[in-house]
Amino acid sequence: MSTFDWNAHMAARLAEARARSQWRAIPPVDRGADRTLLWQGRRLLNLASNNYLGLAGRGELRAAAERAAQELGTTSGASRLVTGNFAACDELERLTAEFKGQGAALVLGSGYVANLCVMTVFADRHTVVFSDRLNHASIVDGVALARAAHVRYRHGDMDHLAGLLERHADAPRKIIVTDTVFSMDGDVADLAHIVELAQEHGALTVVDEAHATGVLGEGRGLAHELGLADAVDVHMGTFSKALGSHGGYVAGREDVVAMLRNFARPFIFSTALPPTVVAASLAALRLVAAGGAKARKLLDYAADLRHHLAALDFATGRSVTQIIPVILGGNEAALAARDFLMERGVLVPAIRPPSVPAGTARLRVSLRADLTEADMERVHTAFEELAVARSRGALP
Ligand SMILES: Cc1ncc(COP(=O)(O)O)c(C=O)c1O
Repeated sequence: MSTFDWNAHMAARLAEARARSQWRAIPPVDRGADRTLLWQGRRLLNLASNNYLGLAGRGELRAAAERAAQELGTTSGASRLVTGNFAACDELERLTAEFKGQGAALVLGSGYVANLCVMTVFADRHTVVFSDRLNHASIVDGVALARAAHVRYRHGDMDHLAGLLERHADAPRKIIVTDTVFSMDGDVADLAHIVELAQEHGALTVVDEAHATGVLGEGRGLAHELGLADAVDVHMGTFSKALGSHGGYVAGREDVVAMLRNFARPFIFSTALPPTVVAASLAALRLVAAGGAKARKLLDYAADLRHHLAALDFATGRSVTQIIPVILGGNEAALAARDFLMERGVLVPAIRPPSVPAGTARLRVSLRADLTEADMERVHTAFEELAVARSRGALP
């Protein structure tokens, strides 16, 4: 019998993470979804959360969650397919489908779970999944769980995708999957081209609208903005970002959603979301569907900031959304810039490899519609000071 030294194994892995500067620590943060958060008790302007529309703080969502807790308690009690269903779940799915212009929708435990569901239901050993290299980790993990062949194309490179589709022309089944807004770059997928290639090659199209939901296309997402909602087969998104709540969704034709209800193991074998969360999501979606959120203001703030950063000679890649990378290159440069901005009361996270490609460490600005004009002025000034400090060689 062989024995394995688990203690030594864990010590070695943790030491390796430290040595590579990849140690992860949970930050000392409180009220992290608010416009200003608390960092070890210090108040900082929050350019780090995904609460892009500031909806998490809205009275409508809080009141809906409180009512649901009073009326229905704190858990759904079981999987949806057993006894975990309740009226607000059905209504949230009806409204999500209507909002997305699709035949049906299914609400799931999180966006991460939604991607696991989609990949494990539609992909298997006989499927090749063509996936943008910068797609979210939940897509990557879903493909692995499905045991499908994973073919990753260079980010946004449609010639590369077309070549790979040709190379795998004989595959029994093909899926093309893409984020619509990329979470570390704030750029958008070339969806028109993807849909065209999918039609040419008989591939199922899957879009992850996690960062576009609530923001682009009147909140309905990039596919809607580009008039491609009917050309995409599977629309995945989340209530946990701009919608200020929690949980994921998949919308599509009735047969697409029936496939998920019947075969998605992460849906079937997990307790349904609690009433509080579903009620908050429903309140948020009603608000956005009625045009009560401020996506236009958010995108205008973003355009202004990109303009300002370009004038200061900062590289913001191909961002066209509320997510703006400020690409600095080295890890030390990104960490020093983050600390510099923090000293000025503005929290912008530093993102380093392996979350982004080597040599592209960056600040990742996540704007939000509830920032005031004065807040934006403060952000602009902080970046001006950062540019001066860097040009004087005071920072790496
Ligand atoms: C592109 C993308 N897809 C899916 C998810 C997962 O969504 P959730 O946080 O609701 O699990 C995220 C969030 O981190 C994301 O950025």
